[in-house]
Amino acid sequence: MSARLKELMARGTALLGSEVAIICGAMSWVSERNLVAAVSNAGGFGLIACGAMTPELLDTEIAATKALTARPFGVNLITMHPQLMDLIAVCAKHGVTHIVLAGGLPPKGSIEAIKESGAKVICFAPALALAKKLVRSGVDALIIEGMEAGGHIGPVATSVLAQEILPELAGEVPVFVAGGIGRGEAIASYLEMGAAGVQLGTRFVCATESIAHPAFKKAFLRANARDAIASVQIDPRLPVIPVRALKNAGTEAFTAKQREVAQMLDEGKVDMMAAQLEIEHYWAGALRRAVIDGDVENGSLMAGQSVGMVSREEPVADILAELVAQAEAALARG
Ligand SMILES: Cc1cc2nc3c(=O)[nH]c(=O)nc-3n(C[C@H](O)[C@H](O)[C@H](O)COP(=O)(O)O)c2cc1C
Repeated sequence: MSARLKELMARGTALLGSEVAIICGAMSWVSERNLVAAVSNAGGFGLIACGAMTPELLDTEIAATKALTARPFGVNLITMHPQLMDLIAVCAKHGVTHIVLAGGLPPKGSIEAIKESGAKVICFAPALALAKKLVRSGVDALIIEGMEAGGHIGPVATSVLAQEILPELAGEVPVFVAGGIGRGEAIASYLEMGAAGVQLGTRFVCATESIAHPAFKKAFLRANARDAIASVQIDPRLPVIPVRALKNAGTEAFTAKQREVAQMLDEGKVDMMAAQLEIEHYWAGALRRAVIDGDVENGSLMAGQSVGMVSREEPVADILAELVAQAEAALARG
């Protein structure tokens, strides 16, 4: 790596313990032992996506990942998981060095429990005020993720979040930028703005080592940026956290489902709680159906806008090498 890139990534690599400050963001069903170990072995930083796993399943997955790599990797936990504290205990048992908390503000006691285990805590910061609050709570690093990203998204673009948060907080904790990054030039520019590193998801889905179904990968290889669209909420009573995914029959069926549930609500056939649960459960399993079973019509094809820059299946090491070379070239041009 060039001296300049090394210097710009120094805080990120020191925090992660990796060669390059590029995190492969946790992706439910995709980020399991094989992809995580491949990323860490290639010098990046892999993250296991715990998603809705039970503590027992997470226990197995961490052990299996450790068998495949001696390099550091982390675990991504969703804050709403009903057994969050048990999952933290499983990570502590294995001596997991980094935990990323995703999906909302961390519940009371969770940051403390992670720190007590000796692990570093990294949190998603959706806005400047919350980012400051998280820094005060003692988090070791932040991830800011814009709405270009794949999966569940917030409302603000990566470029705007970076301008709002990096000048204020990059001096206090390492900040990683995520969402819409497909090439090394973008990595170089965020590093020059003060980021300690970056997190990419979409770009790694088609890695050779990724266990995503061939049909899932094929959908990525064919898609353009404009095909990765955010889901829309059609009734103000039924909250929908927007998800960015490739449009397919499932996307349209989801809109129809919302209409159907809203009508049942109007007719008094279901109460608000049941209606909201019905909406939430609709997508449960949809990502698995697409990633594992290859049902790319009815499953969820979560993907970011950078999907247009995914052009072939290739080993993780090649993806990382290309990103690094592009970042180096951009920095050398000054
Ligand atoms: C298929 C898919 C599944 C994802 N699942 C999760 C998840 O379970 N937890 C999480 O924190 N982020 C999840 N993400 C977001 C990624 O970790 C990462 O932050 C995001 O992909 C970065 O933006 P990019 O897609 O533009 O590279 C997912 C993204 C994708 C594409």
